[in-house]
Amino acid sequence: MFATTLSYQNSAQTATLPHDLFAAIQDLKREMNAVILAHYYQDPDIQDIADFIGDSLGLSRQAADTDAEVIVFAGVHFMAETAKILNPDKLVLLPDLAAGCSLADSCPPDAFAAFKAAHPDHLVVSYINCTAEIKAMSDIICTSSNAVKIVSQIPAAQPIIFAPDRNLGRYVMEQTGRELLLWQGSCMVHETFSEKRMVQLQVEHPDAEIIAHPECEPAVLRHAKYIGSTTALLNYSLKSQSPAFIVATEPGIIHQMQKQAPHKQFIPAPPTNHCACNECPHMRLNTLEKLYLAMKNRSPEITLSEAIRIAALRPIQRMLDMS
Ligand code: 13P
Ligand code: SF4
Repeated sequence: MFATTLSYQNSAQTATLPHDLFAAIQDLKREMNAVILAHYYQDPDIQDIADFIGDSLGLSRQAADTDAEVIVFAGVHFMAETAKILNPDKLVLLPDLAAGCSLADSCPPDAFAAFKAAHPDHLVVSYINCTAEIKAMSDIICTSSNAVKIVSQIPAAQPIIFAPDRNLGRYVMEQTGRELLLWQGSCMVHETFSEKRMVQLQVEHPDAEIIAHPECEPAVLRHAKYIGSTTALLNYSLKSQSPAFIVATEPGIIHQMQKQAPHKQFIPAPPTNHCACNECPHMRLNTLEKLYLAMKNRSPEITLSEAIRIAALRPIQRMLDMS
């Protein structure tokens, strides 16, 4: 293996980088008995080296089932934290510990505890995009791919708090006909799409179908031919007869869409400004270099208190059983 003279800084640790990062990561994977789990919003290079790419539900299932000793989580903090909740004895690495989530941040534990205490008769269903503290205060966790299914299984007379994403919550209300008490959180990426520019784009591409993630605002969702989780959007784009798609979610998913359907056209839905703010700044903190260094240094790792872990595990297990 060759080493460059370049060095790279990560969590106050420096190391020289090999020329062939892909080969070096494969070697470390074997040596460490590690599995690399990646979300679709990661850089294409990271997606290409991952053992499994998926949506939040798929990644949780993989984390629950893996025999590997080390889980390298190429995603954001709440995802790696979920993997650690499911695997307390495994080393769970996140290439950049600062890879957070604006949606998880929009639900601070103290404020949520007060909200919950004000509605003691409500069952708490929380979207997986939240911290372990919020999970520990929840009855059932859901993801964008099973939220409708999970809420539908709750007896009709049971009042429900849905947190933290108001857009997914509104979508679940529409789909189930249930009244939900919504926490007013949202994702900075999915609220950036411009309805006006998307409709203009649709006029320019009359053959294109608009497909959207349920974290988008209602004004965007009402134009969508199909709404679903990242995996559901990918699968829909592969099986639809349409030659083109306007994709209203983080554009990292387009790497997989284009790979699996090279003859189709995938157009990222435009944000309100002419910026790159439809890319998740948290997800994009992870790089192939940081992933290599995290494996090499066995750090940064996810840690959490055992009391919170046990309390957060119960609603996650309930979700896995119910979906
Ligand atoms: P899914 O991949 O589960 O649809 O979630 C999207 C998302 O926002 C992850 O942060
Ligand atoms: Fe969080 Fe939104 Fe980024 Fe997903 S896309 S990690 S919900 S900020």
